[in-house]
Amino acid sequence: MIRREFLVRTLSAAVASLFARDVFAQHSMHSMHGMSGMDDMKDMPGMSPDHAAHSHAAPSAGNLAPESALPAGAPLAAFRKLANESSEPGVFRATLVAQSVRRQLMPGHSTALWLYGDAAQGSIVGPLIDVREGDTVEIRFVNRLPQPSTIHWHGLPVPPDQDGNPTNPIAPGATHVYRFTLPRGSAGTYWYHPHPHMMTAEQVFRGLAGPIIVRAADDPLAAFPERHLFFSDLKLASDASVAPNDMMDWMNGREGQFVLVNGARRPRLTVAQDERWRLWNGCSARYLRLSFGNEQTFTQVGTDGGLLDKPRDGLTELLLAPGERAEIVVRAGAQPSTAVLTAAVHDRRKMTMTEGRSLPADPAKALADVRFEPRPSAARAVPPTLRPIAPLLSSADTAAGKVPRKSVVFEEAMDMKSMHRPGAMMSALPPGMKFMINGATFDPLRIALTSRAGEVEIWSIENRTDMDHPFHLHGTQFQVIGRELDGAKTTEPYLAWRDTVNVQRGETVRIATVQRDAGERMFHCHILEHEDLGMMATLKVV
Ligand code: C2O
Ligand code: CU
Ligand code: CU
Repeated sequence: MIRREFLVRTLSAAVASLFARDVFAQHSMHSMHGMSGMDDMKDMPGMSPDHAAHSHAAPSAGNLAPESALPAGAPLAAFRKLANESSEPGVFRATLVAQSVRRQLMPGHSTALWLYGDAAQGSIVGPLIDVREGDTVEIRFVNRLPQPSTIHWHGLPVPPDQDGNPTNPIAPGATHVYRFTLPRGSAGTYWYHPHPHMMTAEQVFRGLAGPIIVRAADDPLAAFPERHLFFSDLKLASDASVAPNDMMDWMNGREGQFVLVNGARRPRLTVAQDERWRLWNGCSARYLRLSFGNEQTFTQVGTDGGLLDKPRDGLTELLLAPGERAEIVVRAGAQPSTAVLTAAVHDRRKMTMTEGRSLPADPAKALADVRFEPRPSAARAVPPTLRPIAPLLSSADTAAGKVPRKSVVFEEAMDMKSMHRPGAMMSALPPGMKFMINGATFDPLRIALTSRAGEVEIWSIENRTDMDHPFHLHGTQFQVIGRELDGAKTTEPYLAWRDTVNVQRGETVRIATVQRDAGERMFHCHILEHEDLGMMATLKVV
């Protein structure tokens, strides 16, 4: 069992009934001095000296940097691009090194991050892997982290043994080559991130994640200029170090004080003609209800697994759960104007450490400042159909009752007593908090479900917990068929390929899904703290 850099402070009975957020804020200020038990952290596996030194000043909500500590208003940064080392047509060969890099994010301070590539300059987001359908991709991964890691190709249909499963860790100092070929029809917007057992959250919040674009030869939107926005979350202490998770981060998923767009706080951009935007929610836990902060509309043209069959016009907002991606067309308009790209108020029923209580909704957050300066002939038409999407299941299949069905149930067990118990604690994962799938937390040796390759199935994903969880399934793109909440059933109004779907508290989401290759696939909540706490299971495909 790997012990974590996780500092839970004891709570006195007197404060136990307060909202934990406040409890931790107050408590961490008292415990800043004379925190005991810190010294043995240096000996923890995976604990870099740098890291251990910082944990003496381990902050909680009490001493985070103010939101103004990161400069805002720079032009939207372009991605770094992963260079193709191959000159063979149809082969993309490259090297990704995961390593510790110091960057000055807060003026006058340096922050130790874990990044892909040396990234001494440019965006701290991992470099863009820009490839085409049909390409053979060969990525040499060099792990210079003090912990085992893997690279997972989130959403891509890669063979199970190439997908960076937690059961295939790459040791510190080791190198591993991932190899896969991108099939036809796989064009879309994906990402890559580490997936080691119980260390995914930390590796991602220290900076490891990057975008992937797979392009089609016959892209109906090829004429649109593209804009890329990769959203990530950052939580910095007042000394500019990456803050560790506190109890509330484990319970609700970590949300820092900063939401970054391509690695910077609140950048600005100018839209002079109609554009195609690719959007990534690379945050550990933050839901992004995206809007322009007003009634301005946009058109959704794609989801996780590429283009929709038909564009969805006239949207004023779009919810992206952690892990999800989307493509939208943003119009330059007829007149110059400005807007604030915003994560609008959203309630995902975050929990408190008091039984039965929820935190208030998340307030709105400004993500980027947008100027619209339309030049003549800025407008471009979106075709009325984008590409055919065949339903995975015909209604005849379903009616005949021959479709195999699987049930996935999200459950929680909160033992408030042990969470609040004096001395409950430290080092290991937080006590008294269980997030489960089908009654159990993750066990790398257990197969939770078995499917046959090539056989379409209906999965129902039922959320019996007190908060929302984004469900994610590896190795394939599925179709949402319908949802049921409080007895009200709705069928999904449009066809789309997804690998991540939010399941609200009390909701059941039904999907049609099929796996192509035999092997083991993960499915889990994409709030990374929940994944690490065991809200993950293995699907065996035979
Ligand atoms: Cu992006 Cu298994 O996750
Ligand atoms: Cu994934
Ligand atoms: Cu979750």
